[in-house]
Amino acid sequence: MAGVKGLTKRYGDRVVLDGLDLEIAPGEFVALLGHSGSGKSTLLRVLAGLDRDIEGEVHVSGTVSVAFQQPRLLPWRRVWRNIVLGLHRPDAGRPLALQALEEVRLAEHADKWPRQLSGGEAQRVSLARALVREPDLLLLDEPFAALDALTRLAMHRLVQDLWRAHRPSVLLVTHDVDEALRLADRLLVLAGGQIVSEYGPGAHDRAAVLADLGVSESATA
Ligand SMILES: Nc1ncnc2c1ncn2[C@@H]1O[C@H](COP(=O)(O)OP(=O)(O)OP(=O)(O)O)[C@@H](O)[C@H]1O
Ligand SMILES: [Mg+2]
Repeated sequence: MAGVKGLTKRYGDRVVLDGLDLEIAPGEFVALLGHSGSGKSTLLRVLAGLDRDIEGEVHVSGTVSVAFQQPRLLPWRRVWRNIVLGLHRPDAGRPLALQALEEVRLAEHADKWPRQLSGGEAQRVSLARALVREPDLLLLDEPFAALDALTRLAMHRLVQDLWRAHRPSVLLVTHDVDEALRLADRLLVLAGGQIVSEYGPGAHDRAAVLADLGVSESATA
């Protein structure tokens, strides 16, 4: 269970999140949509406990892990060491890293340096690093944005498989309405610092979500 109540985040005079309420049930998969600059990454940082300069309540129980919008790999550590970095588990060695890399189809890159990876590969390493922690709450900030269409579909399947196997709560930030519809139980649209609309399972309506984002169906065709 994770959520925020009356969450307000300001940068100087600018109010980015404005009394926002959000609850994510255990095992629920929630997608968060919203225009660039609407505060999606800001909300994730708050949920991850990385930004405490806020007003309102935040409650998160259990382990949280984040795959950031930028992969944020340590350039001076090999790929496999980046995966298990900071994990305080006796088995947190190379075999665990290799298993996670296998899951994102990058096992052969284990001994590379981060600078030797493509952008999409680095994002998959970042995803593996989040998953290896077996989080109760998994925060994904556009983790598939730099991937080609085929890898993206493979990653959707992977995230779904892992979600079904481990049942973490997931909050996935995406700009892709179809991705959100495919993966999530619930879609939220963030605008003006608040959740302005919400689509539950069964109520998924592509045109309505797009309209909320100020995009008409014909404009995207
Ligand atoms: N450290 C900061 N100082 C000042 N303003 C910031 C800071 N970080 C973010 N902002 C501002 O807060 C707003 C929300 O940023 P945020 O990164 O949460 O947007 P986002 O919804 O994730 O956008 P995108 O889809 O482009 O990733 C933006 O207008 C941004 O300029
Ligand atoms: Mg962002």
